[in-house]
Amino acid sequence: MAQANAMNTRRADSSDTAPDNMTRDAAPSSRIKAIGIVGAGAMGAGIAQVAATAGYDVLLFDQRPGAAEQACGSVLQRIDRRVSRGRLSEKDRAMIGAHLKAQKELADLASCDLIIEAIVEDLDIKRDLFVALAAMTGPDTILVSNTSSLPIGAIAAGNPQADRIAGLHFFNPVPVMKLVEVIPGPDTHADAMACLMGFVRTLGHMPVQVRDTPGFLVNYGGRAFLTEGLALLQDCVAEPTQIDAVMRDCWGFSMGPFELMDLTGTDINLAVTEFIHQSSFSDPRLRSTFRHRYQFQTGQLGRKAGRGYYDYSDGATRPSPDAKVEALPARAIYLADGVDVEIANLAAGLVQILQEDDGECAILAAPLGEDCSAFCARTGLDPRRVMALDVTGSLATRVTLMAAPGVRADIRDSVVAVFAKDRQVTLIADSPGFIGQRIVAMIANLGCEMSQRQLARPDDIDTAMRLGLNYPLGPLELADAMGAGAVFTILCEIQRLTGDDRYRPSSWLRRRVELGLPIRQPD
Ligand code: NAI
Repeated sequence: MAQANAMNTRRADSSDTAPDNMTRDAAPSSRIKAIGIVGAGAMGAGIAQVAATAGYDVLLFDQRPGAAEQACGSVLQRIDRRVSRGRLSEKDRAMIGAHLKAQKELADLASCDLIIEAIVEDLDIKRDLFVALAAMTGPDTILVSNTSSLPIGAIAAGNPQADRIAGLHFFNPVPVMKLVEVIPGPDTHADAMACLMGFVRTLGHMPVQVRDTPGFLVNYGGRAFLTEGLALLQDCVAEPTQIDAVMRDCWGFSMGPFELMDLTGTDINLAVTEFIHQSSFSDPRLRSTFRHRYQFQTGQLGRKAGRGYYDYSDGATRPSPDAKVEALPARAIYLADGVDVEIANLAAGLVQILQEDDGECAILAAPLGEDCSAFCARTGLDPRRVMALDVTGSLATRVTLMAAPGVRADIRDSVVAVFAKDRQVTLIADSPGFIGQRIVAMIANLGCEMSQRQLARPDDIDTAMRLGLNYPLGPLELADAMGAGAVFTILCEIQRLTGDDRYRPSSWLRRRVELGLPIRQPD
């Protein structure tokens, strides 16, 4: 790389990190002092805000006349709000204002040390822009794209300065979302990468180096949560309100998959899902369902349309996720093999437990990955009297129950009534892996696959998924929480029962389970 000397200056020390509520009165001591931003939309303005707050000179350009000035104005309005809440001082505000400048011409950014592109998501337009940027800047200027989906290698292809082009993927809203994916193209020089990792830390953000693959890390990893929710809906296992409640109450997600899709908008999440699925040559792990596209086609985009999987019109109420409880006399329960001591104690606190099946009682089962039908067929237990309980995740406030087709209504209702004594009950149709097992196993499996393909280091995969998607745990941490062996069993069982390769376990997961190794054990 021609500019290797300059690139050698790294600022990757975490002590460079500017705390959220602090600004610097001088630019951080680095080879990066001035930053150019092309595209002053939502992302460009957000990046300008964090960069100016961290003390960098920021030059903003947009091809739409007045857009850059408007973005500077909106950044300063946000800063004013922080000043009025006492989170920044007037001095900080003056410093940030002095660091932000709207420019009239792209050429005005020529002297910048780093130029961040945040324009329209179009490969040809971005390519042309990078050719222009490479031609007008010196050999030390690093050029990055904030693209959320286009391969960095494709943007840099044919560019004579491809060694100083990389990806720097911020998340929206930039000041709040602390993750930044840092993506090398095939020719990106290691010194440029090191410089970018250090630069992101100086913003008070968390850089994670990621391979140049469809959806990078977070958008790729996020497919499991949404598409398995949709798969459950397609199989008529449960309604969105039930699926969301289980993921919140039993697994600690701040939102369920349908709440999240309604928040981001189905126009956005469908486009990302289709792009990643197609770019992955239709890998069934990433496949969505007809309903996903149907929501888009019918304009049921979510909150912004007033209607999505839920109704957001004035006065609309959400259907309850809880099973209807009949007032029935408590019926004794026999516990099938595999119901562990903890669950036995839980049930014993609520109802009489029989040591033998008396031919009349309800039977409680705890299958992993099997549906109730397969469980009864394997064990020979009477499917009309078996109720299956999901014993994974937290059972403190909500439990999930299911039964095989043909279950006796009195048996079903009595078991629901037993658990409803001191928690919410979600009653679903027969499903291999209930709700929680299916979704969590799919997230964990995709995390294992990301490790297998070395998209990032296992710890970084967890960090990125927590910070980028607000998950309570990263995918490998979820595998640990459920037990890697349980995740493997669940996936094998669902794949066996459905014949669907969507559920095939990642080799990363299988090897570690078979050898009894920790899930983060490197190859
Ligand atoms: P936006 O539509 O809000 O802003 C884009 C801006 O770029 C507009 O002001 C437009 O006038 C300007 N522009 C378009 N072509 C230009 C050109 N050739 N030269 C100069 N300016 C030009 O878009 P947004 O949401 O800020 O996205 C920008 C980029 O960031 C896209 O690549 C997008 O995929 C990516 N991104 C978006 C996220 C989001 O949540 N909005 C999250 C992460 C990445």
